Amino acid sequence: MRHPIVVGLQYGDEGKGKITDTLARQADFVIRFNGGNNAGHTLWLEGKKLVTHSVPSGVLSSHAVNFIGAGCVLDPVAFTKELEELVAAGVDLGPERLKIDFRVHLIFPLHRNLDKAREGSATAQQSIGTTLRGIGPTYSTKMDRIGVRAGDLLEPDVEERVEKLVRHANFTLKGLGLPETELKENLEVLALAKSLISKHVSREFAPFYKSRATKKCVLEGAQGILLDLDHGSYPFVTSSNTLGAYAAVGTPFPLGGLGPVVGVAKAYLTRVGNGPFPTELKNETGERIRQNGGEFGATTGRARRTGWLNLDELRAGVQIADVSTIVLTKSDVLCGEKEVFALLDGELKRFEGWPSLTEGSALHPNFETFVAFIEKAMGIPVCAIGTGPDRTDVYWRHKDYNFWPT
Ligand code: IMP
Repeated sequence: MRHPIVVGLQYGDEGKGKITDTLARQADFVIRFNGGNNAGHTLWLEGKKLVTHSVPSGVLSSHAVNFIGAGCVLDPVAFTKELEELVAAGVDLGPERLKIDFRVHLIFPLHRNLDKAREGSATAQQSIGTTLRGIGPTYSTKMDRIGVRAGDLLEPDVEERVEKLVRHANFTLKGLGLPETELKENLEVLALAKSLISKHVSREFAPFYKSRATKKCVLEGAQGILLDLDHGSYPFVTSSNTLGAYAAVGTPFPLGGLGPVVGVAKAYLTRVGNGPFPTELKNETGERIRQNGGEFGATTGRARRTGWLNLDELRAGVQIADVSTIVLTKSDVLCGEKEVFALLDGELKRFEGWPSLTEGSALHPNFETFVAFIEKAMGIPVCAIGTGPDRTDVYWRHKDYNFWPT
């Protein structure tokens, strides 16, 4: 059996959480492979909105084991808060239901300070518009081979290693003429991590190797592939690899068991932070889409930039990520627009708007034309269409799509 990898096909915020949650209902494991609490996945539980950042989107499926893979980074403070919020909503994630790979790198206050310092000292054109969660600096200290991992928490020299990280950060902060990060604050986070994270730490990988033929898994990517560190619009990217291929590196899951790649794309486009956006709408239509789509960051609350769907970028993404099928989300936000556009081969194509997504049991003819155009341009099927925020709001265009092919 091969196991689906869910990736965003744009700049994040495509609605991956919902489809992962839908697949998680049938799955035994949901495994996240990249990013940290820069992500924000919105899930709806009996009409109540839940936003998760670090934990995989299988948390609402009571039998699924959620696994945070080695390609991720984890902020102990944000993680603790997230678990508390989930417990308050009735979702209790004990160590049996939530496991953290011992190789996950931990985010300390010093990383957030470095993120702020770099963004703050950049000119308006140079600044990336990061989420300021310390993601980039944590991946940097990982690459520098001085990071502290979840599995190091119970090592006798872990305090010294945090001290070393603090000295490293202060060298940069001092150089920029900025206030230093305090050792005490970083050690407090270490103490919190020791008491709360270490019980979730897992050194196992055999379960995935052994059970991949019988247990269903979902590999969950964060952000979108246009923000991929290597393949995205560098430098306006995140600091991890968001392509599905990274699931083979960022988790203990064996390569041969991976695929199909399920790409999630919005019917229009949004981007938070800086970077190119050729179809951006800096007008009333853009504002209407922002308001109707609730396009404000789930993590930072920032207003997202909005624009028309860019099929040229989408096609490049579908090809490089070897996407098998698309889940199209948020088309309902465009209901009532007189006309809708999409960029293909450098030209904006015009579509008649749709008053509703469906007409009887079929798609509204104008919307059907739009969806069929996307399928033709991408050369792959749109298997499902999100029709609203709730997890039941899905129109299955290919009801029998097999997410776990043999
Ligand atoms: P960082 O990941 O915080 O370093 O931010 C780098 C870029 O990725 C910025 O443009 C962020 O707005 C963007 N970004 C990071 N995570 C997400 C996400 O989950 N959704 C949308 N954009 C994101």
